[in-house]
Amino acid sequence: MNAANQKTKVAIIGLGNIGKAVATNLVKGNHPVILASRELGKAKELANILGGIATAKEIIDAIKEADVVIPAIYFDKIKEFVKTYADELQGKIIIDVSNPIAPDGNGGFKKIIDQNQSAGTILADLMPSNSILIKAFGTLGASSLANAAFNEPERKVLFFASDSTNSNKQVEGLIIDSGFDPFHIGGIDQSIRIEVFGDLHEFGALGKLVTLKEVKQKVA
Ligand SMILES: NC(=O)c1ccc[n+]([C@@H]2O[C@H](COP(=O)([O-])OP(=O)(O)OC[C@H]3O[C@@H](n4cnc5c(N)ncnc54)[C@H](OP(=O)(O)O)[C@@H]3O)[C@@H](O)[C@H]2O)c1
Repeated sequence: MNAANQKTKVAIIGLGNIGKAVATNLVKGNHPVILASRELGKAKELANILGGIATAKEIIDAIKEADVVIPAIYFDKIKEFVKTYADELQGKIIIDVSNPIAPDGNGGFKKIIDQNQSAGTILADLMPSNSILIKAFGTLGASSLANAAFNEPERKVLFFASDSTNSNKQVEGLIIDSGFDPFHIGGIDQSIRIEVFGDLHEFGALGKLVTLKEVKQKVA
């Protein structure tokens, strides 16, 4: 067994901008990925492009095989997704990348939930029993996520929120393998800070990508 085979089994469901960027970054970091889409052909096509450590599966099989499931889909569709695959998602770590926003009709975006709510806290209440919700991989725009991975000389940070100290090592491993430095900002109740308009989001008060050194200076 080589090192790649011993890594956390991660399934990426939904191969749009964020799904593709997360998959591509993980493969660059030599981390195997299971790709799934509503169209198996789309998953196979991306797996062929990414090479040997990317495999394509039907959504249900991808979830069953993975320890960590990343539905890289819209906030309102995640609710449906969780209902449809409630049995298969039992006991899994589920990473929510979503930002609860929609076009505002003026070329910008507006929040589609109450100002003081977060997708993370809403989704945490809907998760199947024994599963663990983590908020990660959604703090940067898709192009920054794709282009800033493995930045040199210093990596950029991906913030994550999690109530589960047991799962943090796995999530940190995924963030590191995808070319970023992880920074745990606290529990799921802190999700609002790392969603769009939050104080730690690229499209919020932070407004840029930061290194671990910069985060530590800010927090100190
Ligand atoms: N774009 C960004 O800059 C950005 C940044 C941070 C976070 N996010 C979050 O990332 C998530 C994905 O955004 P994106 O920009 O990658 O969107 P996208 O390019 O439109 O991709 C979304 C993917 O979701 C899947 N999907 C669409 N409708 C679905 C449905 N009814 N049921 C199940 N799956 C469905 C599709 O995948 P398949 O066709 O492969 O099934 C689609 O490619 C969103 O929650 C968004 O808020 C986006």
